[in-house]
Amino acid sequence: MQTDPSLALALSAPKAELHVHIEGTLEPDLAFALARRNGVSLPYASEAALAAAYDFEDLQSFLDLYYACADVLVTEADFHDLMLAYLTRAQADGVIHAEIFFDPQTHLPRGVAFATMLAGLESGAREAAQRWGMTTRLIPNFLRHLSEEDAFATLAQIEPYLDRVDGFGLDSSERGHPPSKFARVFARCRELGKPVVAHAGEEGPPSYVVEALDLLKVSRIDHGVRAVEDEALLQRLAAEGVPLTVCPLSNVRLCVFERMELHTLPKLLAAGIRATINSDDPAYFGGYLGDNIRAVQAAFHYPPEVWYRLCRNSLEASFASDVEKAGWVARLDAHFAGARH
Ligand code: HPA
Ligand code: ZN
Repeated sequence: MQTDPSLALALSAPKAELHVHIEGTLEPDLAFALARRNGVSLPYASEAALAAAYDFEDLQSFLDLYYACADVLVTEADFHDLMLAYLTRAQADGVIHAEIFFDPQTHLPRGVAFATMLAGLESGAREAAQRWGMTTRLIPNFLRHLSEEDAFATLAQIEPYLDRVDGFGLDSSERGHPPSKFARVFARCRELGKPVVAHAGEEGPPSYVVEALDLLKVSRIDHGVRAVEDEALLQRLAAEGVPLTVCPLSNVRLCVFERMELHTLPKLLAAGIRATINSDDPAYFGGYLGDNIRAVQAAFHYPPEVWYRLCRNSLEASFASDVEKAGWVARLDAHFAGARH
């Protein structure tokens, strides 16, 4: 097999992952192990039967399964094991820093306290920091199919732990749930001193990206791949340097694009937008960050300078300090030295 030096450089480069839902890293074997451990039943007879159900038509068909599987997450140890399993996979793909989403509203109604999920995620992250020096940030997301009132009630449960979360996000069913529905919640999150992000322009129209920018005042857009349908928006995203956390395999698996060759990543990059590559829900969508990089490279055959740019964008678009970022970019420069021209 012909080796691709550009791909090899990209896979081993230091990089950040900025769009991954920890519940979406739950692999079938861990799901069944936790189901047994907690006496919870899954709606599938076996790991193979569960994996066979990963044949999604759209975002909602995925979310239905994703929320059902999340029922196995109950104890602090469950969240620890999930986090450590994800970070183990991520560091093998060169991830040195991960900003991780979780969905408190998926767990709180089942009696899982915010303190429990948070402590488990933190202890998993601590172990990865000790083993590999990885750094992490935690970003609770509000479920947009639920009400503003529910989001405010959730925020009230999070507030006692505010110094242990690093921002807020917005996820779940996009169509029919525009960012404007959460303008007041996000204003409060910003008042509390936290940066905010939102899923927008995945299945929803470009106007949802505009709302996320103007009404929620987000620091990054999660997905945003439908921005290409609005030329003025494309130019604005580029001019304002708004990072997009693009998830290529997710978009193909959820039928946003029929196949990778039709993905809008090349148009976003050509417009000068700060795109990053991420895995979203890697257990469900066919792979972790490295698999996303391989799939993008198989479709677009990018030279090293494009991979340098994508990795650099990921480090710079993170919520890490300027000092941390400068150190990481120096490592990235050394990694690509001599290969970019
Ligand atoms: N979009 C919206 N909500 C989600 C996703 C996604 O890709 N993954 C998990 N929750
Ligand atoms: Zn997502």
